[in-house]
Amino acid sequence: MNWLRSLMMPAPGSSYASEVDDLYMLIFWISAFFFLLIAGLLSYFVWRYRRRSADEVTPHISHNFKLEVVWSVIPLIIVVVLFFLGFNSYMNARVGPGEALEIQVRGKRWVWEFEYPDGMRTLNEIYIPVNRPVRFVMSSEDVIHSFYVPSFRVKMDVLPNRYTDLWFHPIEEGVHTMLCAEYCGRGHSDMLAQIHVVSEAKFREWQEQGDERMRTMPLAELGKMLYESRGCATCHSIDGTRREGPTFKGIYGESHAMRDGSTVLVDENYLRESILEPQAKIRSGYEAIMPTFQGLLREREIAALIEFIKAQK
Ligand code: CUA
Repeated sequence: MNWLRSLMMPAPGSSYASEVDDLYMLIFWISAFFFLLIAGLLSYFVWRYRRRSADEVTPHISHNFKLEVVWSVIPLIIVVVLFFLGFNSYMNARVGPGEALEIQVRGKRWVWEFEYPDGMRTLNEIYIPVNRPVRFVMSSEDVIHSFYVPSFRVKMDVLPNRYTDLWFHPIEEGVHTMLCAEYCGRGHSDMLAQIHVVSEAKFREWQEQGDERMRTMPLAELGKMLYESRGCATCHSIDGTRREGPTFKGIYGESHAMRDGSTVLVDENYLRESILEPQAKIRSGYEAIMPTFQGLLREREIAALIEFIKAQK
């Protein structure tokens, strides 16, 4: 019956996922059994006790003690068993092993920021080693978000002013999609991140050198990739549409009025400052909602984004 399972749920990526699926399928089959039993008996009785003649009188039957005990006690046993299985599984999901790799997660409109124990930070993308438990300690910088990885069967709210946590044990190498499952504004559906589960050796290599592509891609191409993957695209269009932030179309070389009454020429230095210190100059007519990308982009990545913005004519 594996086809049925894969029809209903994505392939399991963690040890916990199989546990959730087993319990889910057990409940599914119990429900299917009782549905058929009850619907079958119902149809049979409708036919068996149909009215046959106009003067037929139904005999008066008040109750049947034995039958009532049977149909109360059996479901009671079933739900108590399900409760204990579910509770046990829930505790496995909530209480992680002590020696997990800890990653800090910050949700903000509309990106996910991850921070490793050694201080390295990434956006919308993380690498984790296979066969090692990972624990995520999460908080939000603005509104409520929700950290959801369907293939790991884990989900937890990410709240401002409070930490929540979550752990799982990846069992196979592969790429998993993580998404925000709590409506948090217009860019909600753009809050997607990739979780790369890789071998221990590859994880170490990535920690030391970063992603191979980041070092070798041409600047403008890298800029386009970052524009799409680091959350810029959510607020800055490239076709002239107005969103939370100014469009990038033709922005390079323009002069813009700022909130404080000054006028600023959009050049490389202004773009760089706006990426690293977005609150320094706010264009008039726009909200000061952009988060800083200080420490989140390497020098080459900042240069790449600027090249990409310059290319939007
Ligand atoms: Cu963040 Cu929805």
